[in-house]
Amino acid sequence: MLNVEQHYSLDDLERTILQALKKDGKDIDQLILDDLAQIDEFHIRGSEATKEMAEEIGLGAGMQVLDVGSGLGGPSRRLASNYGCRVIGLDLTDAYCRVAEAFSRRLGLDHLVSYRTGNALDMPFEDMRFDVLWTQHTAMNIGEKTQFYSEMYRVLKPGGHLAIYDVIAGPGGEVYYPVPWARDPSISFLTTDDELRHFLEAAGFNIMSWRDTTDTGLAWFAAKSAQIKKQGKPIVGYHLLLGEDFPQMARNQLRSFKESRMALLQVIAARPAK
Ligand SMILES: C[S@@+](CC[C@H](N)C(=O)[O-])C[C@H]1O[C@@H](n2cnc3c(N)ncnc32)[C@H](O)[C@@H]1O
Repeated sequence: MLNVEQHYSLDDLERTILQALKKDGKDIDQLILDDLAQIDEFHIRGSEATKEMAEEIGLGAGMQVLDVGSGLGGPSRRLASNYGCRVIGLDLTDAYCRVAEAFSRRLGLDHLVSYRTGNALDMPFEDMRFDVLWTQHTAMNIGEKTQFYSEMYRVLKPGGHLAIYDVIAGPGGEVYYPVPWARDPSISFLTTDDELRHFLEAAGFNIMSWRDTTDTGLAWFAAKSAQIKKQGKPIVGYHLLLGEDFPQMARNQLRSFKESRMALLQVIAARPAK
C-alpha cells in the first residue's frame, strides 16, 4: 500500500514532461500555459474548470490566494497569469512542488507564484492571511475532514472565499479502484454531499453556491475519448504522472460516475466578514 506522497511521487518528472513536450512539437524554451495544460491542470476538465471557478469567485489583481494541494502548479499559474493574483501553492508531494517551481520559472511567472511542501492539515501560514482559498481534487486524499476545513477557515481572511472543485461520493456504492487519486481505498476519502455541507458549516463557512458538474464532466470525458479514437493517445497527458495503469484508472473513474458511485462538485463558500 502506498501513502499519498508515494502515490504521486516520481523521479525525474520535470525531464519526463519536457521530453514529451518536445516530442509533441512544443518549443520547450518558449512554453506557454496551454502547452502544459494537458498535464499540469491535474483534474477533470482541466483549465476549463479552473477558469470557470475563477470567474465565479471574481478573482482580481493583487489578491493573495492559497492553492491547497497545488500539484504541478497549472491552476496557480493560470490564476496568476489571467487575473494577476499572487498565489502560494501548498502540496504534500515535494517532487510536485519542485516541478511547479521549475515550470513557473520557465513561464516567467515566478514573481507571482511560489510553492511550499507541506500538509493541508497543518498549514505553515498565520491566521487570516489569504483573500482566497482554492482547492481542486485534493480533499479526496484527506481523511481528516474536520481538521482540513478548519485549517482552511483559519488562514482565510474574514469575508474571504473558499473555492472547492472535488469528486464526492455518490449513492451508488464504493468507487472502482484504481482511480487517479488512489490505487486502493486506503488513501481515498470521499464525502457525500450532505457530509461536505456539514463539514463546511461546522468549520464556520457560509455556503454561497453549490453546483453538481457531473454531466459537464461526463461530456468532457466523451470528447476526450472521441479525440483519442481519432488522433491516438496523447503524448503529453496524465499517463506521465500515473503510469501504465492510467487507462484503467480513467475507465474506472468514468464507470463510477456513470453508476452514481461518485459525482463532481464545485462549491463556493465564504468566511463571514465578522
Ligand atoms: C489530483 S492532484 C490535484 C493537483 C492540483 N490541485 C490540480 O488540480 O492540478 C492532488 C494533489 O493533492 C495533494 N495532496 C493530497 N493530500 C494532501 C495534503 N494532506 N496536503 C497537501 N497536499 C495534499 C497531492 O500531493 C497532489 O498533488
